[in-house]
Amino acid sequence: MSNIIIQMRGITKIFPGVKALDSVNLNIYKGKIMALLGENGAGKSTLMKILTGVYEKTSGEIQLEGKAVSFSNTRESQGIGIAIIHQELNLIPHLSIGENIFLGREPVNRLRKIDWQKLYKDAGTIMKRLGIAESPETQVSELSIGKQQMVEIAKALSLDAQVIIMDEPTGALTEKETESLFRVIRELKEEGRSIVYISHRLKEIFEICDDVTVLRDGQFIGEYPVGDLDEDKVIELMVGRKLSEQFPRISCRPGKAALEVRNLNSPLVKEISFEVKQGEIVGIAGLMGSGRTELARTLYGIYGKSSGEILIDGKPVDIKSPGQAIWNGLVYVSEDRKANGVVLGLSIKENVSLSVLQRLSGLLGKIDMRKEAAMAEDAIRSMSIRTSGPMQQVKNLSGGNQQKVSLSKSLAAKPKVLILDEPTRGVDVGAKKEIYDIMNQFKKEGMSIIMISSEMPEILGMSDRILVMHEGRIAGIIDYQDADQEKLMRLAIGKKEVAL
Ligand SMILES: Nc1ncnc2c1ncn2[C@@H]1O[C@H](COP(=O)(O)OP(=O)(O)OP(=O)(O)O)[C@@H](O)[C@H]1O
Ligand SMILES: [Mg+2]
Repeated sequence: MSNIIIQMRGITKIFPGVKALDSVNLNIYKGKIMALLGENGAGKSTLMKILTGVYEKTSGEIQLEGKAVSFSNTRESQGIGIAIIHQELNLIPHLSIGENIFLGREPVNRLRKIDWQKLYKDAGTIMKRLGIAESPETQVSELSIGKQQMVEIAKALSLDAQVIIMDEPTGALTEKETESLFRVIRELKEEGRSIVYISHRLKEIFEICDDVTVLRDGQFIGEYPVGDLDEDKVIELMVGRKLSEQFPRISCRPGKAALEVRNLNSPLVKEISFEVKQGEIVGIAGLMGSGRTELARTLYGIYGKSSGEILIDGKPVDIKSPGQAIWNGLVYVSEDRKANGVVLGLSIKENVSLSVLQRLSGLLGKIDMRKEAAMAEDAIRSMSIRTSGPMQQVKNLSGGNQQKVSLSKSLAAKPKVLILDEPTRGVDVGAKKEIYDIMNQFKKEGMSIIMISSEMPEILGMSDRILVMHEGRIAGIIDYQDADQEKLMRLAIGKKEVAL
C-alpha cells in the first residue's frame, strides 16, 4: 500500500527480566491518525521509543516508505521527520517557554549569536496556534501541568515533522486545552501529516482517530478501522475479556465524622465547611482552577490557612506540614505523581515503605526489612502492579503502574482520611476498576475518602456525596442519588442550583 509511511514489523524488545514487546506490528498511514491502545504496561510507550531511537529494538524491522531504516537517537528520527511528545514531561523548569521549545535548536543571527527576537516570535506563533495566552518568555516552572504539556506539544510542532507521536497528550489538559489540541491535530491531518495517538480516554479515540492498533501484554492483537469498533469492543480487545460493572459502588452505613472542616479560609479557598464520615466517599467536582486541589493542599498543610477549623475524629488539629498531616492520619495523593507522589529513582519497595518508615522501625530505629518486603509484595499483588519485582525502579514502570505505586505508597500509611487527586488519570480501564475496588475495600474498613476528579462518570459512579467547587467556594453538596451530570455542571460553572 503506497499510503503507508512507516511500517514496523515484528518488533521485539527485551528488557532485563521483561519482554516488553513480542513481535509487534504497526502501520502509520499518510494523513491519518492511528490510535495505539493497550492496558498499562502493554508496551505502547516502548514501541514509540523504539520508533524514535530512544530504545534499541531487540529484533524486528522499521521501514520508511518501503526502505529499512534505523535510528540510534531522537536526533536521527527527527532528521527524517518523526517527532514525539513523551508521556512524561521533559521540560527544564527554570527556562522560558521559548527556550524550552527550541532547546538545542536555537535560531542564530549572522553573528552566530542566538536570535532571541526570532526565537520568541516563532515560539509565540506556535503557542498562539495552540490557544495559549502566556508570553513565550514565561518560565516553565510558573505554568500549570496542563500548560507545560502544551509546551511539550508546541515543541513537537516546531519540528515541522511529518509523523507526530502523541503519548497521552491530554492527561493533564483542561477541556478547552484538549479542544485546541484536537483542532490542531485536525489541521495537521489536513496538511497530510500522520499522527500516532495514545490515550486511555476512549472517547477521544472515537473523536479523532481513523484506525486503531491494539497491544496486549506486549503482543500485537490487531489493526482495525475505528468505524468497525465501539467502546465495549475496544475494551474487550485491550483487556482480553469482557469487563464487569465499571463503577462498583458499594453502600456502607457511614460512621462518625472523621474529618470536619469549619469555615476554612485561605488565600485560595473561601468559607469551606463540610464533613466526611467514616466509610464514606466524598467526590469533589469542579472545573480546572475551581480550587479543588488548593483545598486538598490546604488540608494537607502545604498551603497555610488564614482562618477556620479542621477536626479529625472530633479533635481539632493544627496541620502546618504534610508530615503533621500524616501524623494526624490525613494523607493526600497528588495528581502529579512526579512532583510529590513517587520517587522515580527508588524501587517499588522503597517507595511503598517511604511514608511509613517510622512505623516499620523498631525501638532501636532499625527498619524491619522483612516487614518492608512483605508490604511491597502485598502492594504489587493487591494493585496488580506489572513489574519484574519489588526491587524494580519505579521510573522503569509504565505510567499507569507508577500511579498504582503512588497509591500504594499512601495507603501503606493506613490513613483515617485519604484525599485522592485524580486517582485514575493515565490509568487503563482494567486498572481503574482495580483502583475503585481498592477504594471500596478501604471504605468498608471505615476509611474516609475524598476523591477529586474531572471525570464526571467517575464522580457520579463512586461518590456517596458530591461537593462541587466554583471559584474557591463550595457551590453545592449533593447526595449521589440526586446528582446527575447536568446538575453538577451547572454548579461548577456557577449557576444557581435548579430546584430539586
Ligand atoms: N527502561 C525499562 N527498563 C525495564 N523495563 C521497562 C523499561 N521501560 C519499560 N519497561 C517495561 O516494559 C513494559 C511496557 O511498558 P510501557 O511503558 O511501554 O507500557 P505502556 O503501554 O506505555 O503503559 P502505560 O499506559 O501505563 O503508559 C512494562 O512492563 C514496563 O515495566
Ligand atoms: Mg506509556
